[in-house]
Order: sequence, then C-alpha cells, then structure tokens
Amino acid sequence: MSLAVLVGGFFGDEGKGKIAAYLSLKDDMSIGVRTGAINAGHTVVFNGSKYKLRIIPSAFVNRRSRLLIAAGALFSLDVLKKELEATQAYGRVGVDYKSGIITEEHQKRARMDEHLMKRVGSTGTGVGAAMVERVLRTLKLARDYDELKELLTDVAAEVNNALDRGENVLIEATQGCYLSLYHGTYPFVTSRDVTASAACSEVGVGPKRVDEVIVVFKSYVTRVGGGPLEGELPEEEAARRGWLEVATVTGRKRRSAPFNYELARRAVMLNGATQVALTKLDVLFPECRGTRRYDELSSAAKKFIDDIEAAVGAPVTLIGTGEDVMDIVDRRGEL
Ligand code: GTP
Ligand code: IMP
Ligand code: MG
Repeated sequence: MSLAVLVGGFFGDEGKGKIAAYLSLKDDMSIGVRTGAINAGHTVVFNGSKYKLRIIPSAFVNRRSRLLIAAGALFSLDVLKKELEATQAYGRVGVDYKSGIITEEHQKRARMDEHLMKRVGSTGTGVGAAMVERVLRTLKLARDYDELKELLTDVAAEVNNALDRGENVLIEATQGCYLSLYHGTYPFVTSRDVTASAACSEVGVGPKRVDEVIVVFKSYVTRVGGGPLEGELPEEEAARRGWLEVATVTGRKRRSAPFNYELARRAVMLNGATQVALTKLDVLFPECRGTRRYDELSSAAKKFIDDIEAAVGAPVTLIGTGEDVMDIVDRRGEL
C-alpha cells in the first residue's frame, strides 16, 4: 500500500477515525492528510484516552506520522488550537497555504439560516457559509493569517514527494457518500463532495496515484439531521439494540436503521472502493467483542461479512470489534 484513501460509505460517523488511526500505526503512514472540515467529528480511542478530532488527522496516534491539512479543507483557528493542545502534535502539523478559514461570522450566519438549521439539520459550524465565500472568491485562506505562519506548507508537494519516495500516505475523508453535495440525498447533504475523488482533489493528488480506496461501513446505518433513512427504527428500538448514538460535534441523537446492502453496493461504485472496512461488528454480535482474529468470529458474524462481500463485490478487509484503535481483525494478509 502506498496511497490509501479512506472514505465513509453511508451518512458519516461510520468510524473512520478509528480505522485511520489503526492504519497509521499498522502501515506506518509517513503522512496522514485530513480533508473536509470541522463539521466532522472523528473519535479515536487509544491507550485509554478518547480524542474527538475535528481537523487534526486521526493518524496523530503514530508519533512518526506527519499530519497535514489539505488545500480544500476548512477549519477555524480555535478548533485547530484546541486540538494541537489535546493531541500534543506541535511540530508535526502542516497546514496548506490555501486551506480555508472559518470565522465566528460564518457560524453566526449558518445558525440564523432556518432552511439549513431546521430542514437540513446542519451542524451550524459555518462550513457551508465559508464554502459560499470560497466560491465567491472572498474567503480568507490560511496564508492570510499571521498566527498560522509557522505551520504553512505545500501539502500537494509534500504528499506527491512522499509517494515518489515510496512512502505510505493516508488521505482521511469525512462524512459519508450519501451526504455528498453531488451524490447524496440532496438537499439533505453537506456543502461539499465527500467521495474519494473529491478527497484527492482537495489534497492535490491525481487519480492515477491512488492504490487503495477503503470505504468504511458501520454494521448498521446512522444519520444525524434531516433526510431519508430507509428502515429507520423508532428511538426505543434503537436503544434496545444498542444502536442509539450521540453525535460527536453537536451532541444530537443519531437516527438508526439496519445495514443497507443497496446503499453499500452503490457506495463502493461511487468511490471505486477496493476494500471495505466494517466497524461495530461487536454491537451486532456481542460475542465478537475484542476479537482480533477472523477465525474466532462467530459463524453468524462471518455470514454477515460474507453477505456484505457478495452484495458489494469488494473484500471486507478490516473489521472493528471494539472502540479501541487496536480492536480490529485485519484480513489484508490473508485475502
Ligand atoms: P465523521 O467524519 O463525522 O463521519 O466520523 P467518524 O466516521 O470518524 O465516526 P465517529 O467517530 O463520529 O463515530 C463512530 C463511533 O463509533 C465512535 O464513538 C467510535 O469510538 C466508535 N467505534 C468505531 N469503531 C468501533 C467498533 O468497531 N466497535 C465499537 N464498539 N465502537 C466503534
Ligand atoms: P452541515 O454540513 O453542517 O451543513 O450539515 C449538513 C448535513 O450533514 C446535516 O444533516 C448534518 O447532520 C450532516 N453532517 C455534517 N457533518 C456530519 C458528520 O461529520 N457526521 C454526520 N453527519 C454530518
Ligand atoms: Mg463523526
């Protein structure tokens, strides 16, 4: 593996943070690049600590990884500062000159927009408002802020040069493909495309450089905010099954539904996925909790995995069996 792109296959919150962190350690990623913006919250549970990251790459758990923020990404100075402190990643973080900066004003504008807040169910983090300005070419970029001077870098050059040297690089996308501005359930979507091609474009790597596209599915589907969710369960039933989750950024309850094979098949197509990572298998099959070997999974769990592979036409290579970054069955060597 040299360039891997990690994307969400449903409506976000599939557990990309945990898979990214695992890959950064296991494949010794020389660079982890975050795309997207601070509406996304990635959770990383590692060495007994829980981190909630909105802009720093989840690859921070590997102390040797350089942590980059792509030209197409958007963040606010305060979120970056808080996360630099929480992860103690000073010195390893680089911000592209051209990444976009979200201000209080963008957040205020988002929170006053009834269509966005009440109908779409926006996170109200100002990402869309900043994107509007980027399209109008009035948005201020990282290079316009003195406080970022020490962190500025050419992310596209760093990534392409690392690939030329044969190093491993991980691109971390956000949300999931049904929240994509183009391929999602419009208008109940986010303000950007979030598929693998978009993530590469944000970083500045061409499609021919990509070796693996890993699409992450959770063992059931969750969605926050408005928009269709086929097979949605009543809240009491979701709670009974242990599927009731709380959103990382907004603290809202996530809606939930059973695994959707048709959406999964289409997500593999839209992203050109070569592999599938499946998280929260332990929630569906509690007997699998903490298991790290495929042959120790129950036959019911294995059947679920076989069914997914048959439906989507790609191998399930990484399987999450607990919150911790290392709670994973890694089948890449066997398949
Ligand atoms: P977005 O970019 O916002 O879409 O987020 P995300 O895909 O990184 O997911 P998020 O961290 O918001 O939510 C996933 C939740 O599942 C987190 O609380 C993780 O700790 C948890 N999680 C991830 N993988 C597993 C797993 O295999 N088992 C269990 N039990 N929990 C997991
Ligand atoms: P916005 O991108 O904050 O404007 O939100 C638009 C829609 O995408 C809303 O339905 C949000 O709930 C959803 N959304 C945005 N970011 C995330 C995320 O990281 N995880 C899950 N849903 C998200
Ligand atoms: Mg999330």
